[in-house]
Amino acid sequence: MKALVLAGGSGTRLRPITHTSAKQLVPVANKPVLFYGLEAIAAAGVRELGLVVGDTHAEIEAAVGDGSAFGLRVTYLRQEAPLGLAHAVLIARDYLADDDFVMYLGDNFIVGGIDGIVERFGRDRPAAQIMLTRVGDPRQFGVAELDAEGRVVGLEEKPVTPKSDLALVGVYLFTPAIHQAVAELKPSWRGELEITDAIQWLIEEGLRVESDVITGYWKDTGNVTDMLEVNRLVLESLEARTDGRVDGASELIGRVVVEPGAVVERSRVVGPAIIGSGARILDSYVGPFTSIATDCLVSGSEIEYSIVLPRASISGVSRIEASLIGHDVEVTPAPATPRAHRLVLGDHSKVQISS
Ligand code: G1P
Repeated sequence: MKALVLAGGSGTRLRPITHTSAKQLVPVANKPVLFYGLEAIAAAGVRELGLVVGDTHAEIEAAVGDGSAFGLRVTYLRQEAPLGLAHAVLIARDYLADDDFVMYLGDNFIVGGIDGIVERFGRDRPAAQIMLTRVGDPRQFGVAELDAEGRVVGLEEKPVTPKSDLALVGVYLFTPAIHQAVAELKPSWRGELEITDAIQWLIEEGLRVESDVITGYWKDTGNVTDMLEVNRLVLESLEARTDGRVDGASELIGRVVVEPGAVVERSRVVGPAIIGSGARILDSYVGPFTSIATDCLVSGSEIEYSIVLPRASISGVSRIEASLIGHDVEVTPAPATPRAHRLVLGDHSKVQISS
């Protein structure tokens, strides 16, 4: 069994954060979302992983390397243009050879890992096994129709009139039967080779397609609310640890992680929260469900339920809530006084805020 992880794509839905960084590297609890997928794959016992990369290949290669940190052997497969998920399978044909494989979309976040479904697939070996989840707006996804026994009878990509609220989650298991299906495909209305159409082809050929309905799923939708939610979810399972320096005038309450090289002075941090290595929290309040990345500065400020990316600096700001703040952003007070701040700041933004 091999893994095929897709980390091409340009991440238009997460702009402006993805103007300057790959969407698969957006951090959740200070760890790139892609890493959770790689860990889940390794935990399911898979060792050989093909990583499909596009324009952001250099950044992804710098983050993942040869995969040994995850217990994986990573082979990079270059996709020249984002021509669809089935196109990624097409270019990985030689790498995958005649092995079964799990395909995992690098921007998807699944709570609870994939051990169970990989094991079930190994036992039953249907032509394809998919994961489904109930969503509010199925039109943004591939959508499955099930019969009374729960068998998949049809799939449709981004339907205008969805036949159910069961969306395809970005984890698929395949036998080599998928290669013939992919070879038969024509581009969809959006000009992509759709894996959804390839699985539909398998169904029409009378091959077995199994499904699992799961909960605890998140996909980047450009919706910052979702990112903050998944960040909250992951922080919930944090175990308190102080490896950095916390002075006597500071207070850590609940599950707080202070990474090595981080400094907390004259501040109050209420968990669950994580303070990345090299970050400095001075004269500030950091509230629950906040991830402060490496080398950030939070000084004379209050922040809660937010994600702050590396090297951002927040100074003299009374209250930031439910915000996503990009790399190298500077937030400073402004002379006027609007009192509530809800921010989505792109990388390298500079914003003045009254406090
Ligand atoms: C892709 C698939 C879609 C699936 C989704 C899950 O959509 O085409 O069927 O539901 O991933 O993340 P895309 O991200 O290309 O819009």
